[in-house]
Amino acid sequence: MKNRIALLALMIVFGPATMAEAADPVGTPENGKKLFMQNNCYTCHGTVGQGGERGAGPKLAPNPFPFVAFEMQLRQPRGVMPRYPEKFVSNQDLADIYSYVASIPSGPKAADIPLLKSL
Ligand code: HEC
Repeated sequence: MKNRIALLALMIVFGPATMAEAADPVGTPENGKKLFMQNNCYTCHGTVGQGGERGAGPKLAPNPFPFVAFEMQLRQPRGVMPRYPEKFVSNQDLADIYSYVASIPSGPKAADIPLLKSL
């Protein structure tokens, strides 16, 4: 029982600090967009992360992977995607690219496209 109380106290004291460390790094979407083009991400994933033709690369946006998974895919791709080590894409560049991809809005709903309504 005493141990549980001690653990609870530790969680209350250190919990918020630990959670703050796990927060996504802050990036600049405008610079991220430039880097997304310069690093040729767009050639496989499309200019707005919509996914490449003939399965070149999967759709990235809207609602990309959580940052940690995104980072892992760039640093150690699980399949055929080229690797982007830190000497080519710095941690700040990565944060910027992620903030760009995360800023891409969803497309309109089919019901909101006038041309589709007239059919
Ligand atoms: C030559 C094509 C190619 C390029 C260039 C490329 N990717 Fe990929 N990417 C892929 C493929 C294929 C996958 C599927 C997993 C794999 O094969 O590693 C993938 C997977 C991903 C995923 C995981 C998404 C998922 O649903 O699997 C992310 C995130 C990602 N790429 C981001 C990027 C970023 C950011 C860049 C540029 C810095 C980039 N990729 C450049 C081909 C590419």
